[in-house]
Amino acid sequence: MGAECQWLWPTPIGLHQYADAESVNPLLVDAFAQGRAEQERARGQSRGPFFASDDDLLDRVKLPEWQDFVRFVVDGLVATARGANKAEWAGQEFDLQVGIEGMWFQCSSEGAFHDVHTHGNCSWSGVYIVQIDPREQRIGHRVYGEANGATRLYGPPFNALGGAYIDIANAYLMPPSQDIEPNPGQLLLFPSWLPHQAMPYEGELERVIISFNATIHARQGDQLRGYSAT
Ligand SMILES: [Fe+2]
Repeated sequence: MGAECQWLWPTPIGLHQYADAESVNPLLVDAFAQGRAEQERARGQSRGPFFASDDDLLDRVKLPEWQDFVRFVVDGLVATARGANKAEWAGQEFDLQVGIEGMWFQCSSEGAFHDVHTHGNCSWSGVYIVQIDPREQRIGHRVYGEANGATRLYGPPFNALGGAYIDIANAYLMPPSQDIEPNPGQLLLFPSWLPHQAMPYEGELERVIISFNATIHARQGDQLRGYSAT
């Protein structure tokens, strides 16, 4: 931190790569195809370019590999939450209890997208990329280019930027949004309050992702020693 200024409210983001993605992701694609067909039947839906499953995926997937994947997600959440709260936790050790409050999969193709939204009442949200076209093919889309199927994050100043005048001294506000490149096996973690959007996607392969919201509590209580909110 320089003497000239201090930063308030920086945004913590976590990126993790699942080591077993290459072997586990195809199993997930197959399991989700089956789950999708069942849910479409139950809902009386016909197959379209966008599908979101029910949010009870955590208990629904029966693959033996699933528990290992969930462990990867939980470990990633703990590591990122620790990093984000390093100053606040100030070396205190907590027995952390991670709650996945909802987890679901989403499939998109033919330009389908998921508009800007946030996830209230949780502390962390995440997107895991199960399947998408390889990068060169994906970004070659004639309209969407590099944004094809990306997750776009909108920073805190975004809402205030309507018609903003950009000069050299508020250049730090740029860019107001950031696209996170979607690569299979990648787990993106971000604060649940952060507006985000699944950009339109069109490709050879369907874009398949897992989304979730999580809470993290300390078993001994969430009180921080010597911490005052005022
Ligand atoms: Fe979301």
